[in-house]
Amino acid sequence: VTAALALGTAQLAQAYGVANHRVSGAAHDPRAILDAARERGIRWVDTAPAYGDAERVLGRYLAEPGRAGAFRVCSKLSPLPAELPARELRAYVGRAIDQTRGRVGCDRIDAYLVHAASDLATHGAALVDALAAARERGAVGRIGVSVYEPSEAFATLAIGTLDAIQYPFHLFDRRMAESGVVAKLRTGGWLCFARSALLQGLFALAPDALPATLEAGRPWLTRLAALAGEHGTTPVALALGFAVHHSGADFVVVGADDAAQVHAACDATGRPMPGAAAEASERAFTDVPGDVRDPRRWRATGGAS
Ligand SMILES: NC(=O)c1ccc[n+]([C@@H]2O[C@H](COP(=O)([O-])OP(=O)(O)OC[C@H]3O[C@@H](n4cnc5c(N)ncnc54)[C@H](OP(=O)(O)O)[C@@H]3O)[C@@H](O)[C@H]2O)c1
Repeated sequence: VTAALALGTAQLAQAYGVANHRVSGAAHDPRAILDAARERGIRWVDTAPAYGDAERVLGRYLAEPGRAGAFRVCSKLSPLPAELPARELRAYVGRAIDQTRGRVGCDRIDAYLVHAASDLATHGAALVDALAAARERGAVGRIGVSVYEPSEAFATLAIGTLDAIQYPFHLFDRRMAESGVVAKLRTGGWLCFARSALLQGLFALAPDALPATLEAGRPWLTRLAALAGEHGTTPVALALGFAVHHSGADFVVVGADDAAQVHAACDATGRPMPGAAAEASERAFTDVPGDVRDPRRWRATGGAS
């Protein structure tokens, strides 16, 4: 399967870039990014209350004349408070969904994911029931979870009722596809989003431009630059082509800081990926250490900004 692109929205928010493990900065013109996405036929946006003001920025854009329905929207349920009693879960989730609908200005959120997979482990059937109730009343379309680990995806698969998932997939981390869980999700008809195709912008950095705290990534970025050169392409185009052709997802979520990056992403993925480049990419990055491939661990190593 070849995935289509979806637009990530963390870059739309003012708050973007302040998280200390980010390697890229904030967008100055969210409207230009969204216009470019529409122009290029991108039909899904991926957002979350966790991405600063992104839901509201998106909502303001969609409220302008002629924009209603321009994008299908995937958003997320922020991590639940630790002590939330089971009997309050349904009302709590319902309110969170209604707040997202209000901010985005949509009657229905097309896909709604639990942002912290651990919430699904903690609350189990009660949380699934709460999501299903929201789907029942038409407030959300697909329901599911955003995961980091194949084990979380396998656990999610075992739960009936859910039908959407988001997972990381990029040159340095292909575990989701290689574990076989993506094939199972597809067979089950799940709506699949792959994220971090550019590893939060890391693949766009020159090896020499790496922040000191990500020094461990230097040999891998050097290898990526060499590989892209051998195949007559750029690291960004190689990474995006790889995600689109090998993630097994319906949509690859990609973030952009400006309209030019939206166009670059669409240009890079609009053509087939030569088999030799894909095979070489698979061979080159089999054992990238977790400190480099998992952005959650960048912070632990001291932050990248
Ligand atoms: N598009 C292009 O052609 C292009 C070209 C050159 C450079 N770039 C660079 O690549 C970047 C996009 O990289 P990408 O598509 O791999 O990923 P991304 O959109 O930056 O984010 C990938 C994932 O990281 C997490 N995340 C995003 N923002 C966050 C924040 N503020 N705080 C904490 N976590 C956050 C989110 O996952 P969770 O919700 O699970 O945390 C998100 O889904 C652009 O911003 C740009 O700097 C893009």
